[in-house]
Order: sequence, then structure tokens, then C-alpha cells
Amino acid sequence: MKALKNWLFPETALPTLLAIRPLAISMLEDMQVRPYVVPAVRIGDACKQAGVAWETFLQRMENLGIPARGSDWAHLPICRLLDFLTQEHRDFAETFIPAIKAGFASGEGRKDFLGTLHPLIKAWPAFSASLIEHMAAEEAFLFPKILRYAYCVKHHQVDPDFSDGSVKVFAAVHLMRGEEKQMVAISEFMEATAFSAFAGTMDAPAAGLFHLLETFQARLTEHSRMEREILYPLAEGLERRLYDIYINGGTDPRIANPELSPA
Ligand SMILES: [Fe+2]
Ligand SMILES: [Fe+2]
Repeated sequence: MKALKNWLFPETALPTLLAIRPLAISMLEDMQVRPYVVPAVRIGDACKQAGVAWETFLQRMENLGIPARGSDWAHLPICRLLDFLTQEHRDFAETFIPAIKAGFASGEGRKDFLGTLHPLIKAWPAFSASLIEHMAAEEAFLFPKILRYAYCVKHHQVDPDFSDGSVKVFAAVHLMRGEEKQMVAISEFMEATAFSAFAGTMDAPAAGLFHLLETFQARLTEHSRMEREILYPLAEGLERRLYDIYINGGTDPRIANPELSPA
């Protein structure tokens, strides 16, 4: 997780806070701050308006833990799942990708390193770049949109902002394709690496890198499954409900609200 002191200032805009820590929306609700009324509001100003001292807010943020892996996501407010997935993106981008890159670099020039895997080493930068791009697209568009939808289902006087396209179309066209590409690429890497492992050609550094790749693949596969099987269906459900309410003049959103229904 990014250290708070590096990004959280009174001047930080509210959407930045929610992009980095989606779970903070629950705290803002407790403070009676309405995040989508003046979108670019600074956190310091929001705190002042809510009568919350900056130090108190910082302390609350310090105590805002990351939701635990394996939580019953489908029955929890969606901000928890978004927060978990966002923190995983940080792990992928800031821990796994650099460590794997360093692992490859350490074997550079050594003929015996990972035996036949030279093509894998060459393919890694393109794979990393496309994964980073994919995560950035999720964080820039999809996650904030879902967070806002969940908020609007609870607070139906707030505009859900359908102007920049729907979650359904975005998830189907853009992300699913990216998701599949990542999974195919990582499986190919692993098949090639496993072959080398099986052939018994790995020395200790190569075996360490192999283990790292295995862990990364397992985490990425589970992350992708959570997005496809839990997040996207929940998001589409929220979107359908909001469309029904705001466009087709359906019923009061508070009536079938998963965010409010008892666990
Ligand atoms: Fe993701
Ligand atoms: Fe994804």
C-alpha cells in the first residue's frame, strides 16, 4: 500500500482519495461528506465542512485496514472488494513486476540461466506493460464508476453519471479482452518455465524466479476470477438497477439495495 504521507494532503482531491482507497467512501459517509456533489473538492475542505480535524481524519485513514482476502465479497458493500482489488494492483505493479524483472536481469548474459526461456525474458516487458495498462484502465474508469453506482443506489438524489459509457459495455469489450490476454500470456510463460523446471535445468536463482512466477500467476488468476465472477456481475446489477430508476422511471432505489440489505 502507498504510504499515506506520500499522497494524502489537505489539498488532495476527493476522487484521488477514492481511487487509491475506495474503502474510504464508508468513512466519508460516516462524516456526512457527500463525495459526488462537488467532485473536485479537496479533502481538507471536506473535513472542514464536516467539522473533522485534519489529524483526526489522518488517524482514521491510518486505521483503515485493507479488507481480508477470502471475505464474503458478494454480501459486503462493494467498496470493500474494490479496495482489496486496488491494493492487489499495487502489489502486482510495485512488488511482483519489479521483482520478476530483476530476476530476469540477474540471469542476463548467463547462457545456462533458465535454459531455453530466452523468448520469455524478451516477452516479459510487453506483458508487464499490458498488465499495467489494464490495471490503470480499471482504476481510472471501471472502479470509480462502480463505487459511484453503489453510492447512488444508496443516495438516490445523486447523479450516477451515465455520460461516459456503461460498465457493461466497458467490461465486455475492453477489460474482458485484456483479462483473457493476460491469462493466456501468463499460462504460456508458466508452461515454458515449468518445462525447464521439469528438465532439471534450474540453478538456485532460476528456481527462485520460477517460484515467484508461480505465486504471481496464482494471485493474478484469482484476481481475474474475482473480477469476472464477482465484481462485474455485481456492477452490472447495480447499473441495471440505476438505469431502471433513472431512465425507465423504476422504483425507489432504496427498496432492493444490496448495500443496505441485512447480511
Ligand atoms: Fe484488476
Ligand atoms: Fe482485470
